[in-house]
Amino acid sequence: MADDDKIIVKASEIEQHFTVGEESFTVLKKADFKIKENTFNIVYGQSGSGKSTLLNILTGLQKPTKGQVEFEGNNVYQLSPNELAYFRANRIGIVYQQNFWVKSLNVIENVSLPLYFLGYNKPMAAKKAYAALELINMQSYEKKYPILLSGGEQQRIAVARAIVNDPMFVIADEPTGSLDSTTGDMIMELLHNAKVNYGRTIILVTHNMEYLSLADHLLHIQDGVVEEIPDSEIHEATDSLIRGMRDRINRLAQIKEESGHATAA
Ligand SMILES: Nc1ncnc2c1ncn2[C@@H]1O[C@H](COP(=O)(O)OP(=O)(O)OP(=O)(O)O)[C@@H](O)[C@H]1O
Ligand SMILES: [Mg+2]
Repeated sequence: MADDDKIIVKASEIEQHFTVGEESFTVLKKADFKIKENTFNIVYGQSGSGKSTLLNILTGLQKPTKGQVEFEGNNVYQLSPNELAYFRANRIGIVYQQNFWVKSLNVIENVSLPLYFLGYNKPMAAKKAYAALELINMQSYEKKYPILLSGGEQQRIAVARAIVNDPMFVIADEPTGSLDSTTGDMIMELLHNAKVNYGRTIILVTHNMEYLSLADHLLHIQDGVVEEIPDSEIHEATDSLIRGMRDRINRLAQIKEESGHATAA
């Protein structure tokens, strides 16, 4: 990325503390980073490290204990509720880690929902929703009910819903978590194409280290700190994660071998 690329998201001095009953704890103690326009950003880190919390903060869903988020020059937490709702409906498409569906609506109606909010009538929205379903090859599911579908099928429909309004930003929390590798790759290719062909900016959480090679920008969360991996170190970081994956495979093989000995003994 060139230095003069346009900065489109800015997170400044973000901290997130939670209090549950008597107990207070810190999930994020330092998040300071910038995201450039038309880039593919991947957030990674261990389970419980604060990845979903960070995405919720970025998308205006969760006001952080401290700090600010700027999207396209707007301070997200200084927008009025209406302005924030308008911004989210127009500019962002979100794939949540948990699926949210209106149970009484079928697939195409659920995918159409963001468009109703933007003033589309039902037939126009359905046409656009159908095109979004086609992009992920799920058009034959249009009349089914999302809650009756498998986890992976729901995940794909959630991607269709996130892209139906042609958002400038697609923010996705483990969009391939329930998918086999072929279907997962198809979703990642779709998101990558949205960047390359349509100038979109993607911010993605994934546990699938093999997808890191698609990224222009890596954000690693560890011990509450969001660390930006410098451009010059992306290849090294990806390689070291792939080495880590191989080590893990070897460790698992060793566990199996040792348990075999134990059973035989
Ligand atoms: N609203 C909340 N109130 C209290 N604790 C919370 C809240 N939201 C998140 N947490 C806690 O913050 C920590 C980070 O949660 P988060 O969901 O951001 O992790 P994550 O990195 O997305 O994990 P995973 O990879 O498992 O999805 C967890 O310990 C979680 O219990
Ligand atoms: Mg999460």
